[in-house]
Amino acid sequence: MSKPVMQKVESKQLEVADKGQTVEAEERLIIRGGKPLTGSVKIAGAKNSVLKMMAAAILSGDVCVLKNVPDLTDVHMMAEVIRQLGAKVTVADNEVTIDTTNLTNFEASYELVSQFRASFVVLGPLLARAGQAKVALPGGCAIGERRIDLHERGLKLLGAEINIEHGYVNAKAARLIGSRIYLDKPSHGATENIMMAAVNAEGQTIIENAAQEPEIVDLAEFINAMGGKISGAGTYQIVIDGVSTADMHGAVASTMPDRLEAGTFMFAAIATQGDVLLEGVDAHLLYSVISKMSDMGAEVSILAPDSIRVRARNGIRATDITTQPYPGFPTDLQAQAMAVLSIAEGTSIVTETIYENRFMQVAELRRMGADIVVTGNSAVVKGMPKLMGAEVRSSDLRASAALVIAGLAAAQGVTEVTGLHHLDRGYDHLESKLRSLGADIYRR
Ligand code: EPU
Repeated sequence: MSKPVMQKVESKQLEVADKGQTVEAEERLIIRGGKPLTGSVKIAGAKNSVLKMMAAAILSGDVCVLKNVPDLTDVHMMAEVIRQLGAKVTVADNEVTIDTTNLTNFEASYELVSQFRASFVVLGPLLARAGQAKVALPGGCAIGERRIDLHERGLKLLGAEINIEHGYVNAKAARLIGSRIYLDKPSHGATENIMMAAVNAEGQTIIENAAQEPEIVDLAEFINAMGGKISGAGTYQIVIDGVSTADMHGAVASTMPDRLEAGTFMFAAIATQGDVLLEGVDAHLLYSVISKMSDMGAEVSILAPDSIRVRARNGIRATDITTQPYPGFPTDLQAQAMAVLSIAEGTSIVTETIYENRFMQVAELRRMGADIVVTGNSAVVKGMPKLMGAEVRSSDLRASAALVIAGLAAAQGVTEVTGLHHLDRGYDHLESKLRSLGADIYRR
């Protein structure tokens, strides 16, 4: 693993020949589109699973090893957050080793949390293990307000005292007591934070209307391997029977495949009218996505539980998409799907129900010739015969993947995508994997 811990906007110094001055040239992806993707690609471990598993290792008070870890800047940042707590963490060769035997600090600083909101999930395990935590409020981000009220309410129901002061959540609990907690909406992160806090609570906790994302199942299985007692993860009702901290111990686990990386490659294959075999996937986690791809006219075959072939030969048909919590169509693939629909035959309506502001890709896709009009939380996408290469800027992780897909599909010109720090947070070697499928893409 080679990415730096805190990645700012990547840049290179360029000489301005006539003046001897230097200007910063931001790192970019250069894409010459119009080539169908063909071949096979191995899918990496899931970002949204491994980050939470790293936080959960705090519960063990021991040494944990995670395998099949993707090479992402977010993984390095989470390692840094946990190191700041006093743990020893090594990240190498798709494996993370975390020794949380001696924690000396219970604070996650604003410097890290503000850059990378997933770190907020250290709150639950710190409360469970140490009875205290001080974690910076993550604040909003490009895609929405991203409140934490459900985390706060759930932890209070377990008996924690929570004060929000000077931009930090201060949580304290002499003891946590199991409770029945109904979530007003199935928040992925709140489900995880409450589930982890409840691991060592006295008695039983039941989370009602829990989020059902498969990454929560991965997390619960890892916690159970460390001595926890969680059942029902992956359903709307999760039951956590509290165990003593002394009964927790280290564990070894492997991260599930990244369904969002898989979906991204599948949409890229469709956009370029390609033929791609995905290996190391979990096909049954992608049904909502495969169903929409079939509506678009792609042929998607599940060859084995861990292998999917996607072929597109007869153009792309318009279809309507509405994002939903899992098992509905994921918000994290909405932008990528929109890039494909922008060259479909006919008009599609894409509706975003999870975040208030997740259409940041629209203005950039328009620069490439797309015809998209946003009204409220819906976007009307009128398919165009082709897209044209342009300089575009990423606003967030999934929007950047959408721009890469649009660049790969663009029938004319060169696309230059900047804002790559977003992409590197969540995609493991995206451009080399795309190159291995025949794409003309490189980083400069
Ligand atoms: N929400 C609240 N109150 C809360 C918590 C959430 O109102 O206390 C709202 C949020 O503002 C948002 C919605 O509920 O509008 C969904 O938020 P959720 O808590 O479910 O999402 P999350 O845990 O913050 C994770 C993923 C996201 C993914 C969502 C939905 C990680 C690190 N992040 O976020 O992934 O979109 O679940 O599945 O697991 C990504 O990978 O690009 C990404 C953004």
